[in-house]
Amino acid sequence: MPKIQITARGIRAALKSYTPFQSIVEYVWNGFDAQASKIEINFTANELGGIDSITIKDDGYGIPHGKLQEKFETVFESKKALQSKLKKNLSALHGKNGIGRLTFFTFARNAYWKTVYADTGENRTYDIYANAENINLYTGINAIPKRTDLPTGTEVFFGGVHSLTKYDLENSFQDFLLQEFSWFLALNSKRGFSITVGGIPLDYKKFVADSEEFELNHEKTDIPFSVTYVRWKEKLPKEPSRYYYLDSLGQEKWKESSAIKNKGDKFFHSVFIQSPYFDSFAFQSAEDDGQNALMGGTRSDSQFRFMRKKVANYLRIKRKPFLDEFADKLVLEYEKADIISRKEDAGHKDISQIIRMLYKMQPRLFASLNTEQKKMLVGLLELAAGSDKGSDVPLIINSIIELSNEEKNELAEIFQAS
Ligand SMILES: Nc1ncnc2c1ncn2[C@@H]1O[C@H](COP(=O)(O)OP(=O)(O)O)[C@@H](O)[C@H]1O
Ligand SMILES: [Mg+2]
Repeated sequence: MPKIQITARGIRAALKSYTPFQSIVEYVWNGFDAQASKIEINFTANELGGIDSITIKDDGYGIPHGKLQEKFETVFESKKALQSKLKKNLSALHGKNGIGRLTFFTFARNAYWKTVYADTGENRTYDIYANAENINLYTGINAIPKRTDLPTGTEVFFGGVHSLTKYDLENSFQDFLLQEFSWFLALNSKRGFSITVGGIPLDYKKFVADSEEFELNHEKTDIPFSVTYVRWKEKLPKEPSRYYYLDSLGQEKWKESSAIKNKGDKFFHSVFIQSPYFDSFAFQSAEDDGQNALMGGTRSDSQFRFMRKKVANYLRIKRKPFLDEFADKLVLEYEKADIISRKEDAGHKDISQIIRMLYKMQPRLFASLNTEQKKMLVGLLELAAGSDKGSDVPLIINSIIELSNEEKNELAEIFQAS
């Protein structure tokens, strides 16, 4: 029997922090990593509410028999990790440690994979067995794959299930899956990706607090962008707030952090931007890959910069309500440090109101100022508010960030010429 190059104890020690739910999630990711679009999780429960077996089925490309050894033998050296340094900019591959398939021991005594793969014009199938006692061993290398008419994909069966109850799987499991996969299902919603549990599709919209779709059109080049904004109810534990760029087929081409640096506010968001413009686009900067930049669009294109500016501004406005708490804190801090005076004197515009408002429009303006700089900023703002040129302030700010009409009015009210 082939042996993985690490002892069973070593494997368990490395994976001891995995919970049963986290382990299940590894098998779901393995399916998506293998280009599956449908994952079906099923389980059988006994009369006492315990779980007898769990299966996770995917419609991916399967595990070609000729590659089994290479794929299953090496631990901590997953090909997926080595394949591409770009992984952080693509969601297509989740696995990286080459250990996910071994985590079943946290909830089951044995696992077997029934896999179907395409082999020169026909599909073939065989099984792989592993058990938790000797987790560094597996069978399958000596199997003789049989012809089959079944479509490609892999189904993993888990037997001797422990540490999980029917109650767990019918209740907290759904929330766990939503935290893990909501963004991925949203990202691939146009391609019809799904995860079902006991036949019931996981609905990522349950995890959505706010969402909006809109079109942007860059007039000069007539390039359209379809933007979907999603704000999540809770933090996605493993996926930061990002921009995702999709091509005309709805396939992810690139992802990167959203322009907003989260300061601990609860503005958890994802933005999906789809355009035929991304069918051929050099996302990496030209220095990384000189050749790519020769074909398709680049970040310096006016249409790209137009889109980014619009989206960034849209996010800026969406985020404002989440900054209230921080704006209050900032003002309190300025008062404590005597940068602004605590007492409002009747003759002047309320400087703390100005600071609160400006902070919510552009929090970066107030980032990393030392006390002297803070005093200077406040002094200048007071001067502007009291000056007969006050009405120029909204114009100046508008030349830096694109203000909404509401924001312009808000500023005009405070800075109107006295
Ligand atoms: N459901 C699956 N479909 C296709 N290949 C799979 C599947 N599960 C596992 N594999 C193969 O086994 C390898 C090891 O899986 P795993 O231990 O989860 O490590 P990783 O996902 O980090 O590579 C994967 O890289 C993949 O090649
Ligand atoms: Mg994996």
